[in-house]
Amino acid sequence: MKNTRSTSLYRRMCKRIPGGVNSPVRAFRAVHEPPLIISRGKGRYVYDIDGNRYVDFIGAWGPAILGHAHPEVVSFVQKTLRGGFGFGVSHPLEYALAEIIADMMPSMEKIRFVNSGTEATMSAIRLARGYTGRKMIVKFDGCYHGHADSLLVKAGSGAATLGVPDSAGIPTDITRNTLSLAFNDVEMVTRAFAAHGRSIACVIVEPVAGNMGVVPATTSFLTALRTVTKKYGAVLIFDEVMSGFRVHPGGAQELYGIYPDITCLGKIIGGGMPVGAFGGKSAIMDSIAPLGPVYQAGTLSGNPLAMAAGLKTLELYRRDRIFQKIESLGIVLDDAVSRINNIGYNRVGGMFTVYFTDRSISNFDDVKQCDTQSFSKYHRELRAHGFLFPPSQFEAAFLSSTHRKSDISAVVRILSDTL
Ligand SMILES: Cc1ncc(COP(=O)(O)O)c(C=O)c1O
Repeated sequence: MKNTRSTSLYRRMCKRIPGGVNSPVRAFRAVHEPPLIISRGKGRYVYDIDGNRYVDFIGAWGPAILGHAHPEVVSFVQKTLRGGFGFGVSHPLEYALAEIIADMMPSMEKIRFVNSGTEATMSAIRLARGYTGRKMIVKFDGCYHGHADSLLVKAGSGAATLGVPDSAGIPTDITRNTLSLAFNDVEMVTRAFAAHGRSIACVIVEPVAGNMGVVPATTSFLTALRTVTKKYGAVLIFDEVMSGFRVHPGGAQELYGIYPDITCLGKIIGGGMPVGAFGGKSAIMDSIAPLGPVYQAGTLSGNPLAMAAGLKTLELYRRDRIFQKIESLGIVLDDAVSRINNIGYNRVGGMFTVYFTDRSISNFDDVKQCDTQSFSKYHRELRAHGFLFPPSQFEAAFLSSTHRKSDISAVVRILSDTL
């Protein structure tokens, strides 16, 4: 595989951009590989600047559910951009996208658009705090909700202990209001609420976690979160930035039949453009400015190009029964992986992870036991054979409607050879 151009450009990028990348995972450090510099994508393929072609299972970290550069999305975005790039004033596409999302996820009675998943979760938390007048929040180990200060938190030493910062630059004054508990551990949640219940503003959870690899919540865990938040008057936030439209057309909430007060979205609803959204019960959403006292704003929020890409992506998703196509590919994958011994595997809809372990994976402690060296070896083999996977054992891989059964058999054959 050629890499002279990539190597040379990456060297120059390192001089101008910290680590050569604008988001750390792009440095491919976890798998000890040179980073990749992509020039374009089409359908299931991406092409690097050396001309190498890969079947892409990163899928822009989730949004590329139709594959890359779907012609109908491209032409709708082109048509929109001829009218201007953005005005900082309302545009009809904001309403159109809000309508289709609310139709697919009825728990989102009112929706506010922002520019990233991080902005969505950060704003949802401010809203929950403003609405309840409380300051503590509960999150779960291994769930990632973007890089806002109060969410970059490691677990303390027990259920009733308060979180510690997971990054330099975050004062403990901020993280001491965040409790990070074990995912899928009902008892720990019950104990935390018994100790702090009347101070807890909200619980935020990825109902199908995708940031420790794919780890679905158990139904009993989500049921317990719904019950305990109701009992104590806390807001339940589902972070469906990744799981939204990936695990079910109505999101994880529809898959489980358990509905949050607020949902956070991103990725697919922008079709690859920068976007995020949070929404939920009108009674809570109406606490945001200009109606209520919780301030939230954004010059670029609801940008017409992002709205156009998201709207067309969701329209095609519905019209072409994309979820059903992806689910049937997923079943082929399940079947192929089930023939391999001593490997962990979780898949929900269009997101999956192969874990290098012989135990089942249900929380972050389980994931931490995996053999990351074998994962790196698998990753290198995949890349050498022209398949691009997320460069970490702790990330989800994504299916798109453009993948083929032959891609699935190839990646499983490479897995079996690696083992
Ligand atoms: C579940 C979840 N929430 C929030 C975020 C943050 O989104 P963004 O990277 O758009 O800020 C991510 C990003 O991967 C995510 O997976």
